[in-house]
Amino acid sequence: MCNPLLSKHVFLLVLCIAVWNLPIISARKQATLASDPPLTTVHINNNLPIALEYFTIHCKTNTEDLGVHEIACNTAYEWSFRFGGVTLLTCGINFRRYPQGRLEDVFGVFDMYVADRDKSRCPTNCIWNVTEGGVYGYRDYNVGDNDISLEWPKPPPQMS
Ligand SMILES: *[C@@H]1O[C@H](CO)[C@@H](O)[C@H](O)[C@H]1NC(C)=O
Repeated sequence: MCNPLLSKHVFLLVLCIAVWNLPIISARKQATLASDPPLTTVHINNNLPIALEYFTIHCKTNTEDLGVHEIACNTAYEWSFRFGGVTLLTCGINFRRYPQGRLEDVFGVFDMYVADRDKSRCPTNCIWNVTEGGVYGYRDYNVGDNDISLEWPKPPPQMS
């Protein structure tokens, strides 16, 4: 025979536990939501000939100046962010070469992350390979050919 008093107690106990847990459950949900946006990394690989030693890079986001960095050949400049506040990463890249022994400064400014263009194009890794021939964008490692090609501006004519 069922004891109505006991089942009432069990019901109250279950209700109590459920109500007591409610704020914890919803707090946990909020914590997950806050860290939800995926981490995106922009990789800017220095694929210049090793003899050129390094390039100088100066990036700015829409909110932050990331400073000036020298990146050796066969290494990379990398910058990560969570999607949300960052909508733009623009970088000036400069290297020097010496055709026929005279110094030539090569300098270009490139949009390396633009939310409208890139949020679905490269949600996790946005790859750029910087070469003497140009700056090439890839949607991720091992995902097809470059889909963006940017050119170095022509260096100013040599003064004589
Ligand atoms: C781009 O650069 C990376 C790192 O140097 C290299 O592993 C990759 O093969 C390059 N991609 C192409 C198509 O050259």
